[in-house]
Amino acid sequence: MIEALPAKGIPGEQVLAELRELRAADLPTHGGRLFAYVYDPDLDGLDELARAAHAISAAVNGLDPTAFPSLLAMENALVGAAARLLGGDHHTVGSVTGGGTESLILAVKAARDAHPDIATPRLVVPSTAHAAFAKAAHYLRVALDVVPVGADLRADPAATAAAIGPDTVLVAASAPSYAHGVVDPIPQLAAIAAERGVRFHVDACFGGWVLPYLRRLGAALPDFDLSVAGVTSISVDLHKYAYAPKGVSILLHRDEALRLPQYFAYAGWPGYTMINPVISSTRSGGPIAAALATLRSIGDAGYLDLAARTREAVSVLAEAVTATPGVRLFAPPETSVVCLASGDDPDGVDLFVLADELAARGWHTQPQMAFGEMPATIHLTVTAAVASTTGQFAADLADAAAQARARGPAELPAPLLTAAAALTPEMVTPELIGGLAEGLGLAGGDFSRMAAVNSLLNAAPPALREALLTGFLSLLQRPAAATE
Ligand SMILES: Cc1ncc(COP(=O)(O)O)c(C=O)c1O
Repeated sequence: MIEALPAKGIPGEQVLAELRELRAADLPTHGGRLFAYVYDPDLDGLDELARAAHAISAAVNGLDPTAFPSLLAMENALVGAAARLLGGDHHTVGSVTGGGTESLILAVKAARDAHPDIATPRLVVPSTAHAAFAKAAHYLRVALDVVPVGADLRADPAATAAAIGPDTVLVAASAPSYAHGVVDPIPQLAAIAAERGVRFHVDACFGGWVLPYLRRLGAALPDFDLSVAGVTSISVDLHKYAYAPKGVSILLHRDEALRLPQYFAYAGWPGYTMINPVISSTRSGGPIAAALATLRSIGDAGYLDLAARTREAVSVLAEAVTATPGVRLFAPPETSVVCLASGDDPDGVDLFVLADELAARGWHTQPQMAFGEMPATIHLTVTAAVASTTGQFAADLADAAAQARARGPAELPAPLLTAAAALTPEMVTPELIGGLAEGLGLAGGDFSRMAAVNSLLNAAPPALREALLTGFLSLLQRPAAATE
């Protein structure tokens, strides 16, 4: 436990030592062993450079670019680079946001506010679209129309066309989707939206900085950016495949008129007139300076090289999955994701047990729950740093799968299963969550053996899973008691 407000300030050295101790409990952000959350280019000196750049601009406030022209210059430079990478032209404009979710919320806000006449604006997305669209719809009171994807895991153009109605203000799709790493048929979808006079957003938050380079390296991927007619906006996160520190994404619009309703302006109070292009008002220049330093340090040729390493790593990992009994590739490994499912044969392993076995060998993957017709899968976000570890991963995957097969499916205590089967979201209380956490061995904060928990969550309908995990997070997020 750490005291955030000690009676007397304590020396900086000690504070830093405490922070390092806290960080030691985290999953490894570097070294290519964590296949979600982090993006590691494995480039010497890059972290130090980004930190130094962050420090130079940390105190700058993005609230007012006329007071801090340095930030305006940096943002315009980043937006310009993104526009050139993603098929923009001299009409393209954009904003620097704090992350992918913020970029998507703003794309939806711009589309909604372009139609003040529509009482219940609607957003059409494929079922594989990132959850941030559901969040945007929820926050902005926009109705969400989710269109099932085809058997190829891609947005279905005909079904999308059928879902567009007079109140649709935005259609969106992914390039690529996070869960499976496949690219939706953007040209067809954008044409359909354009024909109906509806905006079309490409969520390239995840892969927008690696797809152009994969294409240059010869990957057979469809056009997906502003060069496609009908695409009105696109988002790309610099804190993903541009390898910038957390806190920077870019939202581009085809032209100024499309961006205008994204702004929030308010002069109806006695203080300063507030004009915000993004959700935050006060925001630090640190992440923006760090992103600029990262882009300038790596450069176009550097990103091509990182994409080549990523591509090679994806192909080795995909081969390893194919060669491992009990698992199979669930999605074509066409971008920077390897997504695996349990094998169809009777030897198929329990994926949640496999994830635990991999974690025990130092590989941290991301289990994904079954969804509709789709089985549970394991997601691997592959970054350039993974290239140097693929051989070891392949060996450990074979070993972990054999062990998972020997162990069989995760076992849940029978009383817990019976109780869980009768649960509804309304029955989830803090007491129930406390009891469940205790019963599943989570109360001590050890999350390394999660197969039983994941099996339980996988069996829960989505609304119950949401309630259980919300309750659990709320249980974790408690004010620390005062210490000496
Ligand atoms: C396709 C896609 N869109 C949006 C997001 C949301 O990004 P963030 O976590 O930066 O808010 C993600 C994050 O993984 C993503 O993969």
